[in-house]
Parts: sequence; C-alpha cells; structure tokens
Amino acid sequence: MNHATRVYEDVFELLPSEENPTPLVRLNRLNPSPDSTLYAKLEWMNPFGSVKDRAAYAMLRDLEERGEVGNGRGIVEPTSGNTGISLAAMAKVRGYHMRAVVPERIPLEKKVLLKIMGAEIDVVSDSLCPVPGQSGGTINLAKTHAKAQKDRYVMPNQYENGQNVEAHVRTTGPELWRQTEGRITHLFVSLGTCGTVTGCATFLKAKNPGVKIIAVQPTEGHDVPGLRNLKELEVTKLYDPALIDEVLEIDYELAYERVLDLCQIEGLLAGPSAALVCEGALRVAEREPVGLGVMIFADSIFKYVSSMVRHLPRLTEGLVPDALAQMTSVF
Ligand SMILES: Cc1ncc(COP(=O)(O)O)c(C=O)c1O
Repeated sequence: MNHATRVYEDVFELLPSEENPTPLVRLNRLNPSPDSTLYAKLEWMNPFGSVKDRAAYAMLRDLEERGEVGNGRGIVEPTSGNTGISLAAMAKVRGYHMRAVVPERIPLEKKVLLKIMGAEIDVVSDSLCPVPGQSGGTINLAKTHAKAQKDRYVMPNQYENGQNVEAHVRTTGPELWRQTEGRITHLFVSLGTCGTVTGCATFLKAKNPGVKIIAVQPTEGHDVPGLRNLKELEVTKLYDPALIDEVLEIDYELAYERVLDLCQIEGLLAGPSAALVCEGALRVAEREPVGLGVMIFADSIFKYVSSMVRHLPRLTEGLVPDALAQMTSVF
C-alpha cells in the first residue's frame, strides 16, 4: 500500500490510521466566531462509509484472533445500520455470514444497503421493543440468536465490547492529535454506543487533560438514527461520564435543517448525526471562544434521503406529483 499515491492492494488497507487519517476540513462559512476554529472530521471517508468501520474492524479482528469466527460460524449484531454495513462488508470479504438485527424505524436505505452487502436482516417492530428504546429489542433478539445457534453466530456486541473503545484509542485519537499538532482544545461528538466518545476522550485527555469533550445529544423521542439520548444509554456499557465535560441537548429536528446548511453552505454532505454535532459546536462557539475544535461527522447524507423527506417534506416540492406519497408509503 502507498498512502501517498493512494494505491492499495486490498480494501482493508484503506482503513484509517495515524498514517492514513480521515480528513479534517475547516468550517469556513457557518462559523461566525472569529475566536473559534472548527474542523469537521469526515468519517464517511472510511471505506465502508462511516465511523463504525473502526469499531467493526477492531471487533472482527479480535474475534478472528480468538478463533471465534470461521468454520461455519458468522456474526449476528444489533445495529442501527452503520455497524451492520461495516461488519457485513468486512465479514463477507473474509468469508463469514452476517445477520443484522435492526429497529424498524431506521431508514429504508440502510435496510436495503444491509441486504446489498449480503447480510441477513431481522427487522424488529416497535411492539417488540419496550422502553427505553427500540434497540433494547434488537439487542435481545441478537442475543437470542447467538445463544440458540452457537455454531452459527457469535455476537460482537458493540454495546459492551472493549474493542469498540480501543479502536478509537488506537486510531481516531492519535489521528486527531497528529492532525491538529496537539492543538485540539475541544472535541464535539455524538453518543451511540459511546465507543467514539470514550475512546477519543481517553486518548486525548491522556495527552492533555485540558481538552474539553462535549457530547451532543438529541432531545428525547428523537429520530436521528445511530444516536442515543442519555436516557437511552443504559444499554451501553461504554459510556463514561467522567470523561465528558459537557452534554449539550439539541432539538433533534434542527439536525435536519442543519444538514441543508452543511450541504448548501459548506459543501459538506453530512448526515443528521453530524449535523446535530455541528449545531452543538456552533452553540458553544457562540457562547465562548473555542480555540481549535474538532467535530466528529459520523457519516454522510446519502443513507438518509427518506428521513430528510419525512422531516422536511418541502424537499419533494416540484418533483413528481406523488413523490411524497411514494416516499412516506414506503418508509
Ligand atoms: C450515524 C451515527 N452517528 C453517531 C454514532 C455514534 O457512534 P458511537 O456508537 O461510537 O457512539 C453512530 C453509531 O452507530 C452512528 O451510526
């Protein structure tokens, strides 16, 4: 492999590292604060399209090293889509099967993508998912499969797997440190399994305890796939509040409006979770000077067209007359 010429002998060589980081791009137009510099870390530039490539690869490698996969045994995992897409792509290349258990409400694009990647898929309906969130149902069903069919499935369990955190301690954290030449003052990040926040914060605070970790969460009852509100976090074992300096809550509908700004003003094709993080970072920059802040942009907009249409129906204006009906009936 050659990162300079970007010629690779295998798709796995594209995975990020200190030598091959995902890009940082400065926000030049949306940031009104002269005292703050904000960079977006474009995690959709990962080979399988999201920040979850990092955790998926670390978990898969660990299972391989421990001999837990292979010989007819594949993977089952609860996912809001991105982990499943990353895991399915990697598992298939390695010759393992993959079963993804997803909540009904994730965008159709993600469900279809999982099938395109060759995953089997279980869609868990809301009725199967008691409070605090639908993912409780997906986790339980994935665990049931893993228990009932031990020869066929192992469950990496991104909500409890230390490799999810380690992936960010080993890659994202060092990338951030190197790319900012140790000048990073703030990290803005969303919460899902919390692998990203815990791993990055562990690395950055060891380098400089003064780095502020700002977690941005959507309001309760949100519809931002991949994210969790603090009230939904009991399912993850990877959340460590001691590493987080502030949790900012943002009305989740604003994420969908902010997507348009990022696309139309900055040319950054960010998904809703990235847009929510951006909204949080801009609020902090309005409130106080942020020296050098980095926002983790977990994935891009392409998988969320149906979500965008649901939240911003005006996007279908002037399209074929029944575009909205078509979208809403399917999604
Ligand atoms: C779109 C998106 N944003 C953010 C996250 C949160 O990342 P983490 O699980 O590391 O907390 C996820 C996780 O699945 C995601 O899919």
